[in-house]
Amino acid sequence: MIVLGIDVGTTRSKVSALDDTGRAQIVLNHRGDPYTPSAVYFEEGRTPIVGVEALAEGFLYPQYVHTCFKRVLGSSDVLFTDADGDTYTATDLTRILIAALKRDVENRFNQEVDEAVFTVPANFQDHRKQAMIDAAEGAGIKAIKLVHEPTAAGIAYALDKNKDFRFGVFDLGGGTLDVSILESKGDRITVLNSTGREKLGGEDFSARLKPHILEQFIKENKYEPTQESDPLFFQELADKVEQAKIQLSQKNKTRIVVGCQGRQSIVEITRDRFDSLTTDLVQDAMDCTKEAVEETGLSFSDLDTFILVGGSVRIPAVQSALADLTSIVPHCDIEPDRAVCYGAAQMCAMELAKSGKTIMVGGRAIPAPKAFVQESTAHGVGCCVAEKDGTLRNAVILPKGTPIPMTKTDRFALHEEDQTEARIEVLQGDEGQERDECLSIGEIVLSDLPPEHKKSRRIEVTYAIDENGMIHTTGKDLVSGEQAEIRIDYNKGIAQSDSDQQAA
Ligand SMILES: Nc1ncnc2c1ncn2[C@@H]1O[C@H](COP(=O)(O)OP(=O)(O)OP(=O)(O)O)[C@@H](O)[C@H]1O
Ligand SMILES: [Mg+2]
Repeated sequence: MIVLGIDVGTTRSKVSALDDTGRAQIVLNHRGDPYTPSAVYFEEGRTPIVGVEALAEGFLYPQYVHTCFKRVLGSSDVLFTDADGDTYTATDLTRILIAALKRDVENRFNQEVDEAVFTVPANFQDHRKQAMIDAAEGAGIKAIKLVHEPTAAGIAYALDKNKDFRFGVFDLGGGTLDVSILESKGDRITVLNSTGREKLGGEDFSARLKPHILEQFIKENKYEPTQESDPLFFQELADKVEQAKIQLSQKNKTRIVVGCQGRQSIVEITRDRFDSLTTDLVQDAMDCTKEAVEETGLSFSDLDTFILVGGSVRIPAVQSALADLTSIVPHCDIEPDRAVCYGAAQMCAMELAKSGKTIMVGGRAIPAPKAFVQESTAHGVGCCVAEKDGTLRNAVILPKGTPIPMTKTDRFALHEEDQTEARIEVLQGDEGQERDECLSIGEIVLSDLPPEHKKSRRIEVTYAIDENGMIHTTGKDLVSGEQAEIRIDYNKGIAQSDSDQQAA
């Protein structure tokens, strides 16, 4: 049996499995590398290539390489159409990536892989979680659970420290920032709050350096490269920027050489300059961290520590801003790139044990980690209601931070006395936010309602959030017994079950 955790990253994916002592270890890919770039390259008539090889091929033919598709996972946008006219969305690219990770694990262990725990950013919306489940399934792996990335890192830490403590997880990867506040007490790990920024990560820091270097090149050479005539220049620039950014985490200045059509520039970048180009990104990350703590009603002094997760926490300005904000020296005892997938593998053991399976690794039975993880929601969810003045607002049924799984019911009156149809629009957002400020994630319609002249709170709405944080909504008319429900499945559209006529 392989007890597996898979962390599909925006820039790099990592896989971890428990060894026969129950410790999580990284699973090296077919090249012997601990991380696989989340890149897919399409070549006519061949199976798509994944990882380092995809980036290498894509250097010459950038139009065929796809990276950072996790940022749009869940969208139905077509990112690539092959010569046969087959189209690929971010879910398809993720499926191809996961299938390659699966092959590598199977070849390493000489065993088949059919289930794993997958990680997702804490503030991933429902349809994006569903897309990860679908991608895994398409690759032949059942996602037995989705765990939020910072929660997974928190699990890895809590199991490693084996003591009671309250802590923050600051996870700044390639594409997203997640900040969670957790408590580890006895064998219970509770997520007190999670918040994040869907589009704040290393990619954004790199994007700030790029125009700066390009500008210098144009000034010195009086020549402006374009994507059309000099695609290789831009590929090389992206690579050099990435290297320069990483260098600046160790040194105060670095130099890069960029060349195009026989022209060349040596551009020097100092850490101060990099910091000034990225001040607002660091500030946004700090605002997010403040929000995460404030929303729990705690202050930084109530936390024992802050742990650093994700490759971009190596940026010195990020570390020092976090230390200044929290007055806590953040640390990374577990390799920041690995904590998430280690926790996912541990979670996989917990899930297998929960389903009554004996965990056998390398012919030995290993005990499941003694921990119970209490997750909470990263978004409020409610339904759209009309105020007396006609404004449409979100009436929150499950507020942000609700422990999951959870089921809650609320009742609403119809807007008009003789209304025969009720639309229940499921909104993701906070209490009192106007409808347009919220994300609309589904709708149920109750029709043929008998008119009722008392304005009673007759429409009962039940929201159930499952262990993966996904929402199932039921609406019921208490007068007629008419009932409808949705499970939101974005691949097939919103599935509305046939209404169930029951005697009132
Ligand atoms: N020494 C370093 N200094 C600065 N940035 C670094 C360093 N090492 C790695 N990074 C950045 O870390 C990012 C990759 O980190 P990581 O693997 O944690 O992200 P990911 O898991 O792909 O993304 P996400 O978790 O956001 O989906 C890249 O943007 C990379 O440039
Ligand atoms: Mg990550």
